[in-house]
Parts: sequence; C-alpha cells; structure tokens
Amino acid sequence: MKDVPDGGTGGLSREEIETRARELGPWFHNLDLRGVPTAPEHFLGDYPNIKFRGFSHALPSDLSGKSVLDIGCNAGFYSLEMKRRGAARVLGIDHDEHYLAQARFAAEVLGFDDVEFRQMEVWDVGALGERFDLVIFMGVLYHLRHPLLALDLIREHVADDLLLFQSMQRGSGEVMEVQANYTFWQTEMFDQPAWPKMHFIEHEYANDWTNWWAPNRAAVEAMLRSSGFEILDHPEEEVFLCRVAPTPRQHAVYPARGNRSPGA
Ligand SMILES: C[S@@+](CC[C@H](N)C(=O)[O-])C[C@H]1O[C@@H](n2cnc3c(N)ncnc32)[C@H](O)[C@@H]1O
Repeated sequence: MKDVPDGGTGGLSREEIETRARELGPWFHNLDLRGVPTAPEHFLGDYPNIKFRGFSHALPSDLSGKSVLDIGCNAGFYSLEMKRRGAARVLGIDHDEHYLAQARFAAEVLGFDDVEFRQMEVWDVGALGERFDLVIFMGVLYHLRHPLLALDLIREHVADDLLLFQSMQRGSGEVMEVQANYTFWQTEMFDQPAWPKMHFIEHEYANDWTNWWAPNRAAVEAMLRSSGFEILDHPEEEVFLCRVAPTPRQHAVYPARGNRSPGA
C-alpha cells in the first residue's frame, strides 16, 4: 500500500486546515486531514474508517495501473483509499456539490492532486463514455427512487470488472432457496422473511427523506445478480465484492445512450 505523498499539507498550516474544514462542514466522512478530524462526533463512530476495516482485506492491495469510479463519493474517503493503493486513475462523482468541495479539499491537503471529483448524477454515468476496472457503489442504492435502474446503468455503461457494493439492509439476514418458477396459486413464499424484499419508505427513515428503500440481504444479492454481477465475496454484513457477469435476461436500460446525431 502506498503512503500519503510527501509534501506537506497543500501549503496549509494546521490552523488553516481546521478553519477550512469547519467552513466546509457538516461532514459525513470523518477524514484525517493531517491530524485534523473532519467529523469526530459522527453518529456511527469513526466512519467510514470503522466500516472499511471490516472489508478492506477483500480488495486488491495493489491497484497499480487500475481505474476506479467512486459513485456517490461524498467527501472522497474511498476514492482516496484507492489512490493510496496505487490506482492510476480515480474519478469520484456525487450529485451534491457540498460534499464534492470537501473531497477536493481533502485531496489537496493529502497531496492527491490527480484524483478527480465531478458533480454528476448516477443516472448520467453513460455520458462518461468510459469503463473502470473497479466501480465503487457504497451507501447509495437505498437513497435512490430507482435502485435497480442504477445498477443496470452501472453494469451497462461503466463497470468493466469489479464492483464494490454496500447497502443498508433491514429485515432477515437469511437467504432462502428460490425456485426458477412458481405457479400463480403459490403465494406463501412471499411471506417468508428470507424472500427477496425491499421495504419502501414513503416518508422518512432515520430523519432522512432520501432513504427510499431498505432491502433485506436476499434482495440485495438477487438484484446484484439480476443486473449482471456475480458475487465473489461478502466480507462484511452490508458489503459485497462482485465481478461483471453476463446479464441473465435482456432488458431495457434507460436512459439509453446512442450514437445518433440530433435530428437523425
Ligand atoms: C450515505 S452517503 C455514502 C457515501 C460513501 N459512498 C460511503 O459509502 O461512505 C450517499 C452519497 O451518495 C450521494 N448520492 C445520493 N444520490 C445520488 C445520485 N442520484 N447521484 C449521485 N450521488 C448520489 C449523496 O450525495 C451522498 O454523498
């Protein structure tokens, strides 16, 4: 694993880093900016460091020459960790400029000048016109009104090899054997806790109206497979490492990206 590049603090004193970090708050990622913690009071503890410790061993320790796309990068914790592992190209995207400003500042302080952060919706990944060796899609699925579409778009347009995935999960942690087909009159399996289920949240959950869905583990696994991802590893309760696989069924993926010129 590569160390933080030498060369100080992006020219900033500790006091300047503290002041700027405060101005850029509130932070969701508790980053260590040369001794300055950005979210020391995080409700999940030292987050996402604590999370990462539980599954970091499942990722290649050397990403030399590899490209990484971090979707919903927030303040860039995973983007910067992948750069530490030597990735040649790291692009973090998020739709929230507030978090992207934090990510750019963190990269500057830590000396990772070539990590790129761009404002973008997950729905627009097709516009990147580029595939990545590792796509990170951590903690975003359940914030989306159309979660399966996001997975389909990632599979169709940007994933070239590995997908690192995480979702909040609620309900059963069991996974039941699902038959290839059922008759119209069979209904009892839908009441099994281990049947793939997504709980729809019409109002709010955890004081966050962007929490639209809470899938159980079986639903997460089934959705990943259905979108064309083979699950290679499940190193932590909420985390899956996947590899691109053939999509089991032909299905439409919108927005489509065509090569037709306007008016054609
Ligand atoms: C819970 S945070 C997860 C951050 C980080 N990936 C992690 O695992 O620590 C969700 C992030 O996804 C971003 N996000 C939510 N919906 C998005 C969308 N439609 N397109 C791009 N980013 C989105 C949010 O702005 C936020 O930074």
